[in-house]
Amino acid sequence: MTGDAPLSVADVTRLAEDRLPKELWDYVSGGSGAETTLAANRAALDTVAVLPRVLGGFADASPATRLLGTDASLPLAVAPMAYQRLLHPDGELAVAEAAEIAGVPYVVSTLSSVRLEEIAKVGAATWFQLYWLRSRPLVEDLVARAEEAGCRALMVTVDVPIMGRRLRDLRNSFVLPDEVVAANLEEGSAGRAHELVDGGSAIAAHTAEAFAPNLGWADLEWLRTRTRLPLVVKGVLDPRDAARAVESGVDAVVVSNHGGRQLDGAAPSIDALPAVVDAVGGRCEVLLDSGIRSGTDILRALALGARGVLVGRPVLYGLAAGGVRGVGQVLSLLATELRDAMTLAGCADVAAARTVSTVRTVRAR
Ligand code: FNR
Ligand code: LAC
Repeated sequence: MTGDAPLSVADVTRLAEDRLPKELWDYVSGGSGAETTLAANRAALDTVAVLPRVLGGFADASPATRLLGTDASLPLAVAPMAYQRLLHPDGELAVAEAAEIAGVPYVVSTLSSVRLEEIAKVGAATWFQLYWLRSRPLVEDLVARAEEAGCRALMVTVDVPIMGRRLRDLRNSFVLPDEVVAANLEEGSAGRAHELVDGGSAIAAHTAEAFAPNLGWADLEWLRTRTRLPLVVKGVLDPRDAARAVESGVDAVVVSNHGGRQLDGAAPSIDALPAVVDAVGGRCEVLLDSGIRSGTDILRALALGARGVLVGRPVLYGLAAGGVRGVGQVLSLLATELRDAMTLAGCADVAAARTVSTVRTVRAR
């Protein structure tokens, strides 16, 4: 990485924006529609104000925890994100290596641009994210491959029955470069996101062709009977769905609006979190993503009842800015910030952070 060492995710984001071609910056940083939800994720997090505890009588806050039975050095996993070779030739291998070094789980996307088996070999604790494809044999095959490769959890993303309308990608007629492929699907007939689509985004066209749009609870319950891995549902905002997911036997839900990339107008996940935590009542773990950019944000999520967070775009910005080292910088910045925030809020450990009180403030800016 060039220049002064970045001191925040915002610094890394600027480096990535400077470095990336516009259509890639747009694909990664953008959201759907008018990007209302994308902006609301940040705005809502900024209104969560913490009431620090004092005189706790401890010196070192410890952010170490367990997520889905996996040890994690902090309550964070790298969110599943497609096509990481778009940002750096080493793609997923670099991100997984940085996750390994940082001691946090790495979630492999169905749409990874390196085969999941290769990523698993890097040595990070890996979870596999499943996009439910139209072909059930292909779904079964992916699950079997993830189990075989040693993935430790299965995360089914349920908020992409179709791809959100990403206006930037439509304007850019976004297509994948030839060298970046959906490596897990290459041998199947799941299609490719490389052909120019008239007035459209090739990624959206590929999604429409490959993903099952009519996924239902019965499918999830079928999957529950097929795997012994911890099962996670990603993309839940309504507490009724969270409760239903628990009844279907899931081990965790991820409260997420896909980083503002799916339904524009969906609630900020931090706003949806408390009701989901109530609805599941400790029967499964609750994780959160969408807009987490600092250690303070992680503390906010814990205070509102999350067990941990997924972090998306900042990791890709680190990858674009500096490969393994760039991702490492992002993860260590978040770790340092979280440790500091916990210390300043009087939380000796993650359990204490989950007991912190918050008030909602009117947005300052
Ligand atoms: C994603 N996300 C995503 N989610 C998923 O389940 N499977 C995937 O393949 C992808 N791909 C993907 C690509 C890119 C470029 C982005 C930015 C996001 C969504 C991701 O897992 C996560 O929900 C959001 O990124 C979280 O929001 P933040 O942290 O990016 O604000
Ligand atoms: C995205 C898909 C691939 O958000 O999940 O771009």
